[in-house]
Amino acid sequence: MKPKLLIVDDDEEIRTQMKWALAKDYDVVMAGDRAQAREQFQSSHPAVVLLDLGLPPNPATPEEGLATLSELLALDKQAKIVIITGQAERSTALRAVGTGAYDIIGKPADMDELKILLKRCFYVAHLEREYQQMQQQLNNDSFEGMLGTNVRMQSVFDSIRKVAPASAPVLILGESGTGKEMVARAIHQKSARRDKPFVAINCSAIPESLMESELFGHEKGAFTGAHQQRKGRIEAANEGTLFLDEIGEIPLPIQVKLLRFLQEQRIERVGGRQEITLDVRVVSATNANLKKGMQLGTFREDLFYRIAVIQLLLPPLREREEDISFLAQSFLQRISQEIGKPGLTFGPDALRAIRLHSWPGNVRELQNRVRRAAIMSEGKRVTPQDLELGQADSAPPSITLKDARETVERQMVTMALKKNAGKITAAATELGISRPTFYELMEKLGIQKPEPKE
Ligand SMILES: Nc1ncnc2c1ncn2[C@@H]1O[C@H](COP(=O)(O)OP(=O)(O)OP(=O)(O)O)[C@@H](O)[C@H]1O
Ligand SMILES: [Mg+2]
Repeated sequence: MKPKLLIVDDDEEIRTQMKWALAKDYDVVMAGDRAQAREQFQSSHPAVVLLDLGLPPNPATPEEGLATLSELLALDKQAKIVIITGQAERSTALRAVGTGAYDIIGKPADMDELKILLKRCFYVAHLEREYQQMQQQLNNDSFEGMLGTNVRMQSVFDSIRKVAPASAPVLILGESGTGKEMVARAIHQKSARRDKPFVAINCSAIPESLMESELFGHEKGAFTGAHQQRKGRIEAANEGTLFLDEIGEIPLPIQVKLLRFLQEQRIERVGGRQEITLDVRVVSATNANLKKGMQLGTFREDLFYRIAVIQLLLPPLREREEDISFLAQSFLQRISQEIGKPGLTFGPDALRAIRLHSWPGNVRELQNRVRRAAIMSEGKRVTPQDLELGQADSAPPSITLKDARETVERQMVTMALKKNAGKITAAATELGISRPTFYELMEKLGIQKPEPKE
């Protein structure tokens, strides 16, 4: 099905000409005045409108055209309305843009230029619609703040739903930045423990000497500096969830104590004599290979089987291709709000570069890059350069047909002049065009007539 295009012009002849030129690519509907324009707009919902400003009853002024413009935009503010104006007056053009016109093209319109312009308008309209659908999906598809339409992510969400209500330990596996902590929080949120504490400990961030008292707490006087009794993190998580991040980093002596706690749900504070019974759900995570640790003797096998009753594996971002742009867009939307630049979007090159990147740092890297790009970006559009995604990753710079044509024209004209020693008639004949056309080209391209050689 061809996209719908509405042409509003009071000149019957122009309408017919345009229809001729554009009917191959678009389903063209036409209107001659404001009332007809509104009618056609409402009945055929075109994504793009070509609007002449000089409409009856006052075709000599832009007023009726500008009124039509506001009326159509009031009906659908996403419509892309391109103004065709013979009144090359700057103030009119500015008023049209101020009212919400998408672009402006002079009259008589150059058909090649118009076609390129229309193509871009429809493309942008299409992107916007896709973006809107995505926004809707975002609201429907997020799972405890996690996004993922990829099948493996959906199955992770399913597993979370299933395991959350139980109290069995869960081990979350996945590369760095794949969302392990988010999963741990989701498990807590989906469980009956959601109103109780969620205590997260990064086992790689605590020095070995402090780890035991950090986890289990200590009694007053248990060691030098233990001036008073202190509860440990495990105790703080009572009735809730304890998240042991980077569990592969726990030193062996502590592993023994942790195992005992997991078996009996009881702890003793350092220097304490009394056993404390707790009700704590343990969720752990690692990006290390625990099996290897077991072979090397750095991780206890019995502890592994205790913590890994249920295992969830998070796929790396590069294997969730369909989620990449989705995540990027949602991050951009949130971050641009946060930093006070609402409405930032990715240019098509930027999205392409994002899809092509391999994301070694996974979701975290994506998020950081989007944040930096949002801060660095100068216009409304984030570019591959803002994202610091290499040129090799992104599309070649696009040139318009007009640029390409001018380059070729310039080469031909310069060459013909050179070859014919600056004689215009001979050069024009060589290119198969008339003298006046040749002069016109020279003027358009800013080429000076060379001094004839003696
Ligand atoms: N599916 C997702 N949807 C939305 N945001 C996500 C998703 N996965 C991860 N994130 C975001 O990416 C960042 C990294 O996630 P998280 O900290 O959970 O990963 P991790 O696997 O624990 O990383 P690390 O191994 O570095 O500790 C966080 O800011 C998180 O909000
Ligand atoms: Mg983490």
